[in-house]
Amino acid sequence: MKKNYDVVIIGGGPAGYVAAIRCAQLGLTTACVDKWLDKNNHPKLGGTCLNVGCIPSKALLESSEVYHQSETLLAQHGINVDSVSLDLQKMMDRKESVVNTLTLGIESLFKSNKIDWIQGKATIESLNAEINKKTFNKMITIKLHNQDTQQINTNNIIIATGSSPVNLSIAPIDDEYIVDSTGALAFKKVPEKLGIIGSGVIGLELGSVWKRLGAEVKIFEAQDSFLSFADEFIAKESLKHYTQQGLEIKLNTRLLNAEVKNNTVQIKFMDSDGEHHEIFDKLIIAVGREPNSEGLFNNETDLVMDEGGLIHVNEHCETSLPGIYAIGDTVRGPMLAHKGSEEGLMVAELIAGNFRAVNYELIPSVIYTHPEIAWVGKTEQALRAAGIEYHVGTFPFAASGRAQAVNQITGMIKVISHEVTDKILGVHILGAHASELIAQAVIAMEFGASSEDIALIMFAHPTFSEAFHEASLAVSGNALHITQRKNIANS
Ligand code: FAD
Ligand code: NAI
Repeated sequence: MKKNYDVVIIGGGPAGYVAAIRCAQLGLTTACVDKWLDKNNHPKLGGTCLNVGCIPSKALLESSEVYHQSETLLAQHGINVDSVSLDLQKMMDRKESVVNTLTLGIESLFKSNKIDWIQGKATIESLNAEINKKTFNKMITIKLHNQDTQQINTNNIIIATGSSPVNLSIAPIDDEYIVDSTGALAFKKVPEKLGIIGSGVIGLELGSVWKRLGAEVKIFEAQDSFLSFADEFIAKESLKHYTQQGLEIKLNTRLLNAEVKNNTVQIKFMDSDGEHHEIFDKLIIAVGREPNSEGLFNNETDLVMDEGGLIHVNEHCETSLPGIYAIGDTVRGPMLAHKGSEEGLMVAELIAGNFRAVNYELIPSVIYTHPEIAWVGKTEQALRAAGIEYHVGTFPFAASGRAQAVNQITGMIKVISHEVTDKILGVHILGAHASELIAQAVIAMEFGASSEDIALIMFAHPTFSEAFHEASLAVSGNALHITQRKNIANS
């Protein structure tokens, strides 16, 4: 272990570990401090995303979908299975094994890139206001897991400390009956009745997992609109599908309190009809996440933060303190792993004296339910609000040969392009493989493609991708496999 580094990264999640790898590749002496301990008290890299976020949730989404399909859909293919039963422990073991494979993978990438992984909680101790690249002008103290203290010096600090679930004082987490997303990824048995507060991304993804495994799921949402950050047409359509699947989503509903009584959770809530009570076996609180930015400094600093604890940064992720950068969930923008990773790459290049930027206009979003939802760029409602004229082309998967062949006909692709220039402004997908298809839209938009550009490209047949081609053709009223009038707005 060295005493002096060119760069110290605090946090080994997808923002921090990617920054660390790139810094090391660029020849900078690099350390990454991370305090994560798994349930067996083993230090782990990968942060929220790998340990209790993106990866375990996707593992369970896949397992639960396979279970659900084998219970309900195989017969449609003419495959009869006598009986299907669930081994939840085995499903959870598979999830853990996926997590372990990936976190160990990062460990070995750290080793091969000669990145020092310091296991403990970092505090930024002293800052020398004068920037002198030759001296190591910042000191970090690390409280190691074995309670020892270690001090290291560095020129540059990248804060990548991530975020934590927002808690509600009226429904305190007890990790048994009232849980956050971490607890909801590790139930020991399928709850008969599951309540979820918040119909955002976690509520929908984890609600889907437990619904498919047999729980009766009720989701309580404070807002009167559903998925207000998604395109309103897609949001409306997806709500119909979730409801058909049996997810009961109650909008405009305010939780008043939740209490654990007699091994159940009793909640009181208010809707337009007044006050009500419900009893659940488990309650998941999924009302957003907040940045981990408290207690990072030992002394008072001039680090500028907003009220919610987000560290203020410019477009290069520079904080108000020289040589200190912040990336990922601790700063503005969507709390998404790929957004944090791109910021990590950018900051590493900037520290090494190179140039790189993040295109914040083209961050793809995905909700991994069934059907999946994915989008990039502007929604119709945002364009309307900005007074920008546009055209819309929509193509339903029901008209796709491949979708029919594989029995995944739900949903559509919607392409929005500028009325005058035809430049694609947004792509919104509801349907199978939306998470993969959206990359085509991101690439097209990064290259400034028009809907006509996509219409003139050849797509393999039969594929889901052809729906992107057809939706692009539909912008000018020329889709081949649906009947349409020219330039129909679909909302
Ligand atoms: P984190 O991953 O939170 O990592 C921060 C790290 O910093 C942690 O390891 C923490 O231990 C460490 N740390 C904090 N303070 C200190 C300190 N003082 N000293 C040392 N170490 C410290 N995003 C997606 O893009 N796609 C998804 O499918 C997706 N699914 C999700 C599912 C769930 C259930 C959840 C909860 C989140 C999901 N997310 C998803 C969000 C994603 O996990 C986060 O956006 C991402 O992890 C943020 O990365 P980060 O590196 O900024 O922070
Ligand atoms: P979210 O912001 O997606 O949704 C929270 C929901 O809770 C909102 O609809 C909000 O209106 C509602 N809410 C807030 N307070 C409430 C209250 N008191 N009562 C009822 N409803 C209330 O947050 P969520 O689902 O917790 O996820 C956190 C973040 O994690 C996401 O914003 C996303 O950035 C990330 N994530 C990303 C995933 C992906 O990319 N597929 C998957 C899971 C999480």
